[in-house]
Amino acid sequence: MHFCFIVEEQYRRDSMPLVIARQLLKWGHAVDLLEPSKTVTSLCDLTGQCCDAYVLKTVSEGPGLSILQAAEAVGIPTINNSRAIRLVRDKAIFAAFAYAHGLPVPRSYFIAHPRLLKSIPRNDYPLVVKPTNGSSGRGIYRVNSPGELATLKIDGPSLCFFLAQHYVENAGYDIKLYAIGKDVYAVARKSPLHPEVEVESHLIPVKSEWLKLAQRVGELFGLDIYGLDVLETNNGPVVVDINDFPSFGQVPGAVKRISNYILRLAKDAKFKRYRLPDRGTFHTVRAQRLVMAR
Ligand SMILES: Nc1ncnc2c1ncn2[C@@H]1O[C@H](COP(=O)(O)OP(=O)(O)OP(=O)(O)O)[C@@H](O)[C@H]1O
Ligand SMILES: [Mg+2]
Repeated sequence: MHFCFIVEEQYRRDSMPLVIARQLLKWGHAVDLLEPSKTVTSLCDLTGQCCDAYVLKTVSEGPGLSILQAAEAVGIPTINNSRAIRLVRDKAIFAAFAYAHGLPVPRSYFIAHPRLLKSIPRNDYPLVVKPTNGSSGRGIYRVNSPGELATLKIDGPSLCFFLAQHYVENAGYDIKLYAIGKDVYAVARKSPLHPEVEVESHLIPVKSEWLKLAQRVGELFGLDIYGLDVLETNNGPVVVDINDFPSFGQVPGAVKRISNYILRLAKDAKFKRYRLPDRGTFHTVRAQRLVMAR
């Protein structure tokens, strides 16, 4: 099989998704690495490359998603697919979609500017305010009451909007649910809102309600490889965030499991795929072919 991994600049030195590319290569598959910041992608040549699947781990506002969508538009399978990615990439879209489908999510508001916080009903407090395009816990604030707004200083990327969300009472640590298709793993992890609670990240048994919740998210959003940030409450699990292609830290054998799953998805898609006729192979600049270091 032939894969193209779109590698955003931010992940060039991270293990994900490159470890997966290397594993597929080790198993004898062809793997191209396409770094959008360094590559001129010939859009008239996408089908000619006979790539079986494009794989992307997104960054917010990154160029990779455009290329993934271009590949998808000409009929090449993509992992994850762009619709699923767009539904979770922006926390406001995730919250609206999840709420509309009956998933347990906190009451949430979109605000274009922090000054609008004063219009949020008092009984939605305490609030968590976070950038809609945020990640890695950056720019997250807890606001206990409207009285705190006067002194609240919100730093965010220059171009960002915000999600104001009801703060969910919880045990002070996160349950990260990691999904590879229908297989789900749970990891307990420190919460950025509870620095006082000491938790070493560790694998924990998956409760049946977490399994059902994670699988439901996969079906509804159309995600293949994904993660949910869940908080345990007296009324059951509440989802505060969903990520496409997370790190899978602490998940045993994650690299082989993810690689195997990508392979299976690409093989299944190959049989169904409508192939456009080969238009020749005119490349100006090509994605770099990954070769094994000996
Ligand atoms: N509504 C909420 N109620 C209680 N805690 C919350 C809420 N929203 C977020 N948190 C806490 O803040 C953490 C980070 O929030 P969120 O996942 O939305 O941001 P993020 O920037 O995507 O972080 P990460 O990349 O670490 O997942 C959550 O894992 C959770 O511990
Ligand atoms: Mg998160």
